[in-house]
Amino acid sequence: MAQEVRGVIAPGKNEPVRVETIVVPDPGPGEAVVKVQACGVCHTDLHYKQGGISDDYPFLLGHEASGVVESVGEGVTDIAPGDFVILNWRAVCGNCRACLRGRPWYCFNTHNAKQKMTLASTGQELSPALGIGAFADKTLVAAGQCTKVDPAVSPAVAGLLGCGVMAGIGAAINTGNVGRGDTVAVIGCGGVGDAAIAGSRLAGAARIIAVDIDDRKLEKARSMGATHTVNSKASDPVEAIRELTGGFGADVVIEAVGRPETYKQAFYARDLAGTVVLVGVPTPEMKLELPLLDVFGRGGSLKSSWYGDCLPSRDFPMLIDLHQQGRLDLAAFVTETIQLDEVEKAFERMHGGDVLRSVVEL
Ligand code: APR
Ligand code: ZN
Ligand code: ZN
Repeated sequence: MAQEVRGVIAPGKNEPVRVETIVVPDPGPGEAVVKVQACGVCHTDLHYKQGGISDDYPFLLGHEASGVVESVGEGVTDIAPGDFVILNWRAVCGNCRACLRGRPWYCFNTHNAKQKMTLASTGQELSPALGIGAFADKTLVAAGQCTKVDPAVSPAVAGLLGCGVMAGIGAAINTGNVGRGDTVAVIGCGGVGDAAIAGSRLAGAARIIAVDIDDRKLEKARSMGATHTVNSKASDPVEAIRELTGGFGADVVIEAVGRPETYKQAFYARDLAGTVVLVGVPTPEMKLELPLLDVFGRGGSLKSSWYGDCLPSRDFPMLIDLHQQGRLDLAAFVTETIQLDEVEKAFERMHGGDVLRSVVEL
């Protein structure tokens, strides 16, 4: 039977978000209902509220989540009620041209639940953020959006792998292919950049240079594994990175801001034949201008990283294991835990720059 639970709704452009009663249907074929235990507050949730993603209000926000499977629909075999899972927003299809070529992390046909959750008061259909909608006691997702992991890990920590932290770690280990002995520079040290730093350390990078315009972020970046820091307000980051790398530039530069000027810094701060990874998300009006001869002459590769090019079924359990073994401090990304009715306040704090992640605990 359909259930009524609490959920955080963005009712309209720039209107404050609020807790409302939502209706969660029973899972249909290939679907699952998950009892949410924790869900991080991500910039993308704020972008939904601000109308930066689409106009399909009302949105049910929240997408960096973990929880326990409550029930599954027909044909679901990979997960069962009682499983502790991390939700992902790229459930791969297995049939598209990327999947068929053995590159499912690029899947071009990812899917979500087919049924809709609704607003109890009006019956209006909800648009769940990134097809998840997990600022809610329970949510309906496609079974492929659930990845079973070790239930011994704290839900707040596990949920972070569902979005920003996975994007950053994956930008380093999957997209950037950082290896033992590499020099890496990370531009922008928020949650995503710090995760790229942690991922680079995990991959054996010899030197990790953190770049930001905020000294507090640089201090945190050091605790995540940065060996050197550059405040790019105080000094030219390209010069500074070259100086720290024998005059050459870094093997891999990860751009975790999403702006043309920081992308250019990344482009010129990399060594010949090096790699630039763009994991920061630009906005539609941004343009990039670069001498084509430099693009050619410097060689190497310019890549973008969607969701850290992760494959949830491969990467989530592995990263949870590394966390459990003390080799990856995922807990360091949780700045504070909050209640469901404090998401609006968390958006305000995001602007202040002193929060890596606020996580709603349910
Ligand atoms: N140069 C260097 N650092 C900068 C600059 C700049 N010009 N502008 C901002 N920053 C720093 C901020 O000080 C902050 O530490 O970039 C960091 C951005 O961090 P957050 O705002 O916390 O964002 P985060 O969650 O890390 O996401 C970064 O990745 O997934 C995308 O949409 C997300 O585009 C965003 C990016
Ligand atoms: Zn996110
Ligand atoms: Zn596919």
